[in-house]
Amino acid sequence: MSVLRLDKYLSECGVASRKEIREIIRSGRVTVDGVAETNFARKIDSGSAVTLDGSALAYEKYRYFMLNKPHGVLSATEDRDQATVLSLLLPEHKRLGLFPVGRLDKDTTGLLILTNDGDFAHKVISPKSGIMKRYLAETDGRCTEDDVRIFAEGIVLGDGTKCLPAKLEPCGERCYVTVAEGKYHQVKRMLAAVGKPVLKLHRLSVGGLLLDESLLPGQYRELDAEELCRVMKQN
Ligand code: URA
Repeated sequence: MSVLRLDKYLSECGVASRKEIREIIRSGRVTVDGVAETNFARKIDSGSAVTLDGSALAYEKYRYFMLNKPHGVLSATEDRDQATVLSLLLPEHKRLGLFPVGRLDKDTTGLLILTNDGDFAHKVISPKSGIMKRYLAETDGRCTEDDVRIFAEGIVLGDGTKCLPAKLEPCGERCYVTVAEGKYHQVKRMLAAVGKPVLKLHRLSVGGLLLDESLLPGQYRELDAEELCRVMKQN
């Protein structure tokens, strides 16, 4: 951890808004190395022991959450008119500067990772990392073995865009699609290109990280260290 001002440190711990934090510090509720500290500009480093109302604070620069994204919510950090995935968060998590790792369409549901770690997000999104994203799609029409082959060879979309090879697993009126990239409306456009428009789309996994099925739509939880490693690995 680099050296931080006390108010910034508390803000990054997500304890309150910046404005509230100054008030909290002024009122003597914060100690640094066992002594009450009322100077919000006090420098804090990794060796400092900070408490708030007697409880030790643990500073984590980066945080990672999995959300079961519900239908009808935008994968964005803000929007003038519509609810975004950040509107689903508790106030202490809203303050962490989280953003979605990639985008799911408004009507797509399922696994969405939220973080404030830009490098991590970049790695997960980049097709070069080869991190596969698996979707369950309900389609109008059944996918065929021909479609499987076309996906495996790298489908060319209606506008001429060439996709990386992808895995298609037909399953009646539904199918599983696994892709390494995240072009705009990619899975919908791929399935439309073989004449199987998508009726419903749900993301099941990112790398080796599966959506926790105990999370109801709109619910989320923090990832543990092992789950975080799993994102970078395949099943
Ligand atoms: N592909 C799509 O078409 N939509 C999504 O939301 C994700 C992948």
